[in-house]
Amino acid sequence: KQVIRIGLLGFGTVGQGVWKHLQGNDSALERRLGVKLELVRAAVSDLKKKREVRVPASRLTDDPYAVVDDPSIDIVCELIGGTKLARTLTLRALKAGKIVVSANKALICKHGEEIFSAARRAGTHYFFEASVAGGIPIIKTLREGLVANRFSLIYGILNGTSNYILTRMEREGLSFPDILDDARSLGYVEADESLDLDGWDAAHKAVILAYLAHGRWVKLKEMLVEGIRGITQYDIAYARELGCKIKLLAVISRDFSTNCLSVRLHPALISKRELMASVDEVYNGVSLTGDVVGTTLLVGRGAGQDATSSAVISDIADAVYLLKGVPAPFICEEDEDVYAALGAEVELA
Ligand code: NDP
Ligand code: HSE
Repeated sequence: KQVIRIGLLGFGTVGQGVWKHLQGNDSALERRLGVKLELVRAAVSDLKKKREVRVPASRLTDDPYAVVDDPSIDIVCELIGGTKLARTLTLRALKAGKIVVSANKALICKHGEEIFSAARRAGTHYFFEASVAGGIPIIKTLREGLVANRFSLIYGILNGTSNYILTRMEREGLSFPDILDDARSLGYVEADESLDLDGWDAAHKAVILAYLAHGRWVKLKEMLVEGIRGITQYDIAYARELGCKIKLLAVISRDFSTNCLSVRLHPALISKRELMASVDEVYNGVSLTGDVVGTTLLVGRGAGQDATSSAVISDIADAVYLLKGVPAPFICEEDEDVYAALGAEVELA
């Protein structure tokens, strides 16, 4: 079988999750993708750090260029975060013709235009499913499933940390700092927590969705951006009295008669009768209203190791199809274990 070699930039919450699930599901993935995936190495900043996922020391390096410049590596997953080094490494990997997979919404919001054209110039690809709404396949939904549509409205909950904090403030009457520590230990919070608390992380995601839906890079300074830092128990009690919940919403609306595009991010009251109001904890929800399909609502875990790894691995799969030069198969190869189990169930019935 063909072997596809993967290098990771970053072995933190997401990087370790990707490694764990690529190994844990290796036979299913091999069957579905028709190739063997080999994890070559991961770059970290501190080789001595204790990690949840154990890998041989020889697979870790503190030199990210040892990943990007390794000619045997086909796919580089950028899971370092930040915008400076991540940009340099991404551009270098693309220039070398590698496929890059990323979860880095801050980088895409700031340098997406440059990165996408670098990928085009090098004749390679940049995938970023994990950059918006964690495990929800929102990028593929916009690019593929709903490609027939023009979107008058896309709105939703795009930051897992904020939604987790708001949910627990509402349910348990807890204060902000206690919940933030829990969110951090669950791996939801950005290295720079103000990205979550001040709305910037969700704003980055809204910019990416607006670009995919409308082909225009909206600048953060053109948007209203307000996070959840100012929300108190007083606000939550007031919302409850009105039959509402407070949610941090991204709203991307386009008026096709004037062609005006508006992108904003702020806490909002939502009636408890709305489906979006029931999207709690770390879950994200995205509602898309298209002229052909009508309204579609997607809900799923928006942050954390497993949900994010699921999205990164979906991009690795797309990269494999590209490298093999085949479209994604409709039917995966037969899995004998599943057929045996179904047979047993039929007999019981
Ligand atoms: P972490 O902080 O947990 O991991 C970052 C990793 O990058 C660490 O392994 C760190 O090394 C490594 N690193 C940082 N700087 C360098 C450097 N100069 N050289 C080599 N390695 C370096 O972040 P996450 O895994 O949470 O996030 C990674 C990316 O994924 C970010 O862009 C984030 O926004 C995005 N993301 C995160 C989600 C989540 O739920 N956590 C969800 C969706 C996207 P070391 O381990 O030694 O410190
Ligand atoms: N910190 C982000 C969040 C991670 O809480 O949504 C997922 O992008």
